[in-house]
Amino acid sequence: MTSMPVFPPAFCDQLHELFMWRRDVRHFRRDPVPESVLAELLATACLAPSVGLSEPWRFVRVDDSARRQAVRDDFSQCNAAALSARAGTDAGRYARLKLAGLDDAPHHVAVLSHPDPAQGRGLGRATMPQTTTWSTVMAIHTFWLAATAAGVGVGWVSILNPERIKAVLDVDPALELVAYLCVGYPAQPAVTPELERRGWEQRAPERREWVHR
Ligand SMILES: Cc1cc2nc3c(=O)[nH]c(=O)nc-3n(C[C@H](O)[C@H](O)[C@H](O)COP(=O)(O)O)c2cc1C
Repeated sequence: MTSMPVFPPAFCDQLHELFMWRRDVRHFRRDPVPESVLAELLATACLAPSVGLSEPWRFVRVDDSARRQAVRDDFSQCNAAALSARAGTDAGRYARLKLAGLDDAPHHVAVLSHPDPAQGRGLGRATMPQTTTWSTVMAIHTFWLAATAAGVGVGWVSILNPERIKAVLDVDPALELVAYLCVGYPAQPAVTPELERRGWEQRAPERREWVHR
């Protein structure tokens, strides 16, 4: 029988540091991440749990400059709509936020999810079909943490029209767009969320308490 490794306290402390330093990154250096590192990140992401071992995630590298431009245009349109839906001072504060690093990030990765994959044979999905999406989110988070450990930044962009993005990427329309990730080396590493640093929102201490029933 294989014995599980013991993770010493020093490792656990460092792991905690990793969780603390995982950031949503919107400011990137332009130099590319080596392909070998990107391949490792993808392999690690695929260690994530998934409902019925269905592995419903599909990671799509967006390399084509015309497709990238179309994604940027869609973001601008969706972000302008989000801004105009806000009123008063809130709109001014929203307008000052940087909500994507699409221009500078050397790598764009769309993450899609198969809503009804043959793999996994339907196990666990009968009453909660959303579990395929959640499985894909697990893979994204695993990718995000592995990237942080490798010094690579990830920024999640959701201010997009998913149907338009799927058309731009020419992917199976049955797939669900879960995330559009900007990937590259961070230009401004920080231990606190950017939205907190810019006074938009802060972590809620009460969320760190268990709710008991
Ligand atoms: C599902 C999801 C969607 C997000 N979409 C965006 C986005 O469109 N633009 C953006 O700037 N940040 C986006 N974020 C990043 C969050 O704003 C960020 O995680 C949060 O402010 C906490 O900061 P941290 O990730 O650096 O800890 C998204 C995060 C998640 C989990």
